[in-house]
Amino acid sequence: MTAIASEIDRFNRLSATWWDSQGPMRPLHVVNTLRLGYVAERMARHLNTPPGPANTALTGLRVLDVGCGGGLMAEPLARIGAQVVGIDASPGNIAAARLHAAGQGIHVDYRLGEVEQVLAPGERFDVVLALEVVEHVADVPAFVHAAASHVAPGGLLFASTIDRTLTSWVVAIVGAEYVLRVLPRGTHRWGRFVRAAELAAAAHHAGLTAGESVGMRYDPFRHRAAWCTSTRVNYMTVFQREGPRAHTH
Ligand SMILES: C[S@@+](CC[C@H](N)C(=O)[O-])C[C@H]1O[C@@H](n2cnc3c(N)ncnc32)[C@H](O)[C@@H]1O
Repeated sequence: MTAIASEIDRFNRLSATWWDSQGPMRPLHVVNTLRLGYVAERMARHLNTPPGPANTALTGLRVLDVGCGGGLMAEPLARIGAQVVGIDASPGNIAAARLHAAGQGIHVDYRLGEVEQVLAPGERFDVVLALEVVEHVADVPAFVHAAASHVAPGGLLFASTIDRTLTSWVVAIVGAEYVLRVLPRGTHRWGRFVRAAELAAAAHHAGLTAGESVGMRYDPFRHRAAWCTSTRVNYMTVFQREGPRAHTH
């Protein structure tokens, strides 16, 4: 198990603000449209979902969102047809996620706890998401291993985080938390940021193959996000479990 109690407490205290797009979670709301488009498009392409109306684009796919927070990704993926399990170690976040999904009339299977606690070893998913979470855990290889163990053969793991570079210290800690106050102070610890090679090594050890990595740039003045070639601050990598696609139901 890899959760850090102080991190979970901090997220728990913020749980009521999860769906406030102008509150402390504002950066996640800003990046959400961008990452949702990327993830949904790659999921549909890689897993070859049959063409159909946009609101059923992911029908038939099982998705696991690890560290789902209030459900910013889980909910819209369920809205376009995916069967989503969202798990989080913070009780407040799971409560906020359940409440919001119920208000929207969307079904997401939200579970409180860590991977090892709330998933049966044999549960398999076409796609596993670990978005902005590996920089908040105590043991990255163990966390990645646990999440990856639920990726079905032929399935994908999307992981996004912040690289541990000088640039990320300046941009994501000093700039974002102290100067521009885009994020509450203490949101991130630089030492917990994850180098792309460390993430890739953890995924490799867990039996996954690294695919595309993309950088993401956040404009703190206009609150806009865009993909970029530099992965020195925020980045997302897609990993795949090789093998013929297995049925996940
Ligand atoms: C920065 S938030 C990201 C939320 C969501 N993935 C997103 O990007 O919108 C990190 C979340 O991971 C959760 N978390 C941290 N460690 C965890 C663990 N070991 N297992 C499950 N959830 C965890 C926290 O409670 C928090 O909700």
